[in-house]
Amino acid sequence: MSEEITYVDAKTLENFMRDVFIGLGVPEEDAKIIAEVLITSDLRGIESHGIQRCKMYYDRIKAGIYEVNTKIDIIKEGPTTALLDGNCGMGHVIAYKAMKMTIEKAKKYGLGAVAVKNSTHFGIAGFYSLMAIKEGMIGLAVTNARPSIPPTFGVEPMLGTNPLTVGAPTDEQFPFLIDAATSIIQRGKVEVYDRIKKTLPKNTVIDENGEFITDATKVLEKMLERKAALLPLGGKGEDTAGYKGYGYATVVELLSAALQNGIYLRDTLGIVENGQKRLKVGHFFLAINIDNFNGLDSFKNVAGNIMRDLRKSQKEPGEKRIYTAGEKEYYEEIEKKKTGIPLNKSLQNDIKIMQTDLNLDGYNFSF
Ligand SMILES: NC(=O)c1ccc[n+]([C@@H]2O[C@H](COP(=O)([O-])OP(=O)(O)OC[C@H]3O[C@@H](n4cnc5c(N)ncnc54)[C@H](O)[C@@H]3O)[C@@H](O)[C@H]2O)c1
Repeated sequence: MSEEITYVDAKTLENFMRDVFIGLGVPEEDAKIIAEVLITSDLRGIESHGIQRCKMYYDRIKAGIYEVNTKIDIIKEGPTTALLDGNCGMGHVIAYKAMKMTIEKAKKYGLGAVAVKNSTHFGIAGFYSLMAIKEGMIGLAVTNARPSIPPTFGVEPMLGTNPLTVGAPTDEQFPFLIDAATSIIQRGKVEVYDRIKKTLPKNTVIDENGEFITDATKVLEKMLERKAALLPLGGKGEDTAGYKGYGYATVVELLSAALQNGIYLRDTLGIVENGQKRLKVGHFFLAINIDNFNGLDSFKNVAGNIMRDLRKSQKEPGEKRIYTAGEKEYYEEIEKKKTGIPLNKSLQNDIKIMQTDLNLDGYNFSF
């Protein structure tokens, strides 16, 4: 497989993705935001949510599922809170602007909390937590998503892979940032395994009979029929506490749907409005201004000490090092800026399709 991988400079790929969205009718400023979120995913080594997902957005825009001109309405607003309506615009743009608003509120009053309804897929939740971290705040970003996780003792995919993402600055070069789904494996990663025809780890997905399945292509096919489900963190049943992941995925569903009177569970599969299919989701963002507590420097120092203590703790025999969340992505970004972004054959094909269709002749990719 490796001989089929081509590396493309991150800036070139970011510009290409921006031009794809412009070509599809997204205003330039918005296209830049989307491309920035997508390339941040690739740079941070999150292969599932960058260029890998570009064609999915392209297909959805072509199908009229997303509004390319993102219009955000403020439904309700208080000093520290807001409820927004994304009107089925571009999820990355809606989330970016919602987190900006959240941060502004936290700057003024110490806390900001913004709920969003009628949004669409926003990519990596961690991008929005990072926005708060850069402003010296603790940032939380969550979203619901298409049903994938079954409740404990169930087989029907009900909850999205619902990322629960929390980050905070430290006195180190990188922040703490746990940016992950509440399922063991999330759908985008299954898509990556499918593209490279790799077997899924055992005990991550069950079929309609509760049996484990590891063939990524089959899992994606069965997911379309709602006959495969991605197990919550903790796994199947109660023995390894799968109910904890199930519970946290439910917290995300509540924050993403109940505060907004928005779409939840099965309805995230799609609803038809005025003859048009829509794929709606909701989000929730929280920013806590650290300076309103014991001060940013003090927080960063304690947070840094916690990270260092964790990494210095006794290792399992045979293991070389212990990481803290957000660390690997920081080093990935340094590396990817040097090497470029790896593109497998399947991604190269996606790029060719979009390039040809949108006449993006200015890009001389080697494939
Ligand atoms: N928009 C959506 O609907 C949606 C849904 C699900 C996931 N996502 C996104 O997908 C991305 C990937 O999610 P995932 O569940 O595959 O993530 P993952 O399982 O790869 O976990 C990544 C997280 O774990 C940390 N980590 C990894 N190895 C570690 C170690 N050894 N020690 C300590 N921490 C470690 C990383 O720093 C990172 O915070 C995320 O950015 C998430 O926001 C989006």
